[in-house]
Amino acid sequence: MRKIKDIRPLKFEDGYLFVINQLKLPKELEWLKLQSLEDYEKAIKDMVVRGAPLIGIVGAYGFFQGIKDGISEVEVYERLRKTRPTAVNLFWALDRMLNFYRKYKEEKDILEKLLKEAQRIELEDYHANRMIGGYGEVLIPNKANVLTHCNTGALATAGWGTALGIIRSAWENDKDITVFVDETRPYLQGSRLTAWELLQEGIPHYIITDSSAGFLISKGKVDVIVVGADRITLNGDTANKIGTYTLSVLAKHHNIPFYVAAPTSTFDLTTKSGEDIPIEERDQKEVKNCHCCQVAPEESKALNYSFDVTPAENITAIITEKGLIERPNEEKIKKFFGRK
Ligand code: MRU
Repeated sequence: MRKIKDIRPLKFEDGYLFVINQLKLPKELEWLKLQSLEDYEKAIKDMVVRGAPLIGIVGAYGFFQGIKDGISEVEVYERLRKTRPTAVNLFWALDRMLNFYRKYKEEKDILEKLLKEAQRIELEDYHANRMIGGYGEVLIPNKANVLTHCNTGALATAGWGTALGIIRSAWENDKDITVFVDETRPYLQGSRLTAWELLQEGIPHYIITDSSAGFLISKGKVDVIVVGADRITLNGDTANKIGTYTLSVLAKHHNIPFYVAAPTSTFDLTTKSGEDIPIEERDQKEVKNCHCCQVAPEESKALNYSFDVTPAENITAIITEKGLIERPNEEKIKKFFGRK
């Protein structure tokens, strides 16, 4: 078995949460101390921290911080909910923290209890990822070329990762894989963050421009695609980083497996289909500038949808910490979650 580094994107020390500033990677590994509710709101909005599970975890710690600072639970909850709209893990974690707070608010040690609940959410996510890695890695053949999109690794979660966690687990289990990393315009989660993580682990990889995927797939160079998710609806439709839908169509056309890896906290069973998922639109500046360098005429307008929706019918299986949902649809998802 190969040795894996234990990268963690957050740590709670001396009463405060410290997070890796993902805007500075790969050039610099900077830890930022979050000291107020505003710091948490800004960190999530500006994508200092990002990735569906991680923003849920940071939101949970933010809830603790806001209550500690004497802000009402409704204000803390509403302010954190407004930071980013698509990843459902944020709402899931905030609902859990609010319900927990309301249950125990009269108790003397409520702050300590709230902190422990946030830490539990973090720990549960880490263990969920290890399980996802285990269930997923058996689907990756030895010597496979694996294509992935965005960053779904330790940096997007409590640690290990979801789709990238499966790649980590395959590598840990001595599989000689090669990873194609979509650079993931415009924020470059692939080239800046996924490549950085793969380098730490010594996993062979090539960064590719997003538009190279089709060519590589058509040449038979990709054996399997594995991606993460920001929200999975009742029928299995999946919102993930913009460009994911395109990959799913390519996978279907070329008959290669297309796996979605996500913890159960990424499911939104109250939303029937992908049609109803709110898609974040970010500032056009992110498209027209690449790391402070202008790459488009100032006068041109740009569209910056952060996510797209992959229909369930394009997904070979969803890999969760509780097992697989193959060829997902509403009936199978209801059964998986024990719903009628
Ligand atoms: O805009 P981001 O970087 O927060 O988007 C991240 C993604 O789309 C990931 O694929 C998704 O959150 C899964 S992370 C385990």
